[in-house]
Amino acid sequence: MLRIALTKGRLEKEAVALMKHAGYDTEALADKGRRLILPVGDDIEVLLAKAPDVITYVIHGVCDLGIVGKDTIMEYGGSFYEVLDLGFGKCRFALAVPKGSDFYADGISHRIASKYPNVTRDYFARKGMDVGIIKIEGSVELAPLVGLADGIVDIVETGTTLKENGLEAIEDVADLSARLIVNTAAMKLKYPAIEAFIDRIAQEVDQ
Ligand code: PRP
Repeated sequence: MLRIALTKGRLEKEAVALMKHAGYDTEALADKGRRLILPVGDDIEVLLAKAPDVITYVIHGVCDLGIVGKDTIMEYGGSFYEVLDLGFGKCRFALAVPKGSDFYADGISHRIASKYPNVTRDYFARKGMDVGIIKIEGSVELAPLVGLADGIVDIVETGTTLKENGLEAIEDVADLSARLIVNTAAMKLKYPAIEAFIDRIAQEVDQ
């Protein structure tokens, strides 16, 4: 039996579609109601969790595999194998500022709002810049609009949210997409089953 932690919400639909195309019986996932653990055929169980919790369940070994965004992996890290880029949920981390503002002008303060403080800290550390980071839980675009921050580091998919709020991306921080992760002990103990799952999913991703 394999147990897979799946990020609910944005990535869920495409992850389920991918498993279905790979030949897995995803009927229970399509009609799940409020259930949080669903069977996929006789040998797989899928658990639905928030993105950072997917990593927690995999690290603790209660789930053998996880499907989670690279954004969450970059922010939370941890000890697990990242085995496959699943090719959906494509977007990017970008640094965005109020349109027309010169973020790097002398004497300008550098307060960055983000849901991803670790990613933000690492990005500016690589540039050798000391910035103030303000952790925001969502709708980060608000922070510069009301003067809480000079810029944001956030996920950009279509760019609509930035545009409609008078912001512009000035630098790409990283490309993002959904990833398949594996618990390190499970990779050894359940290798045949995990390898078979990875192979079946990888075949669909390549097509
Ligand atoms: C994400 C992200 C941006 C938006 C980007 O937010 O934080 O706000 O999507 O998408 P776009 O470039 O296509 O406009 P999400 O909807 O996940 O909600 P949140 O802001 O509450 O985190």
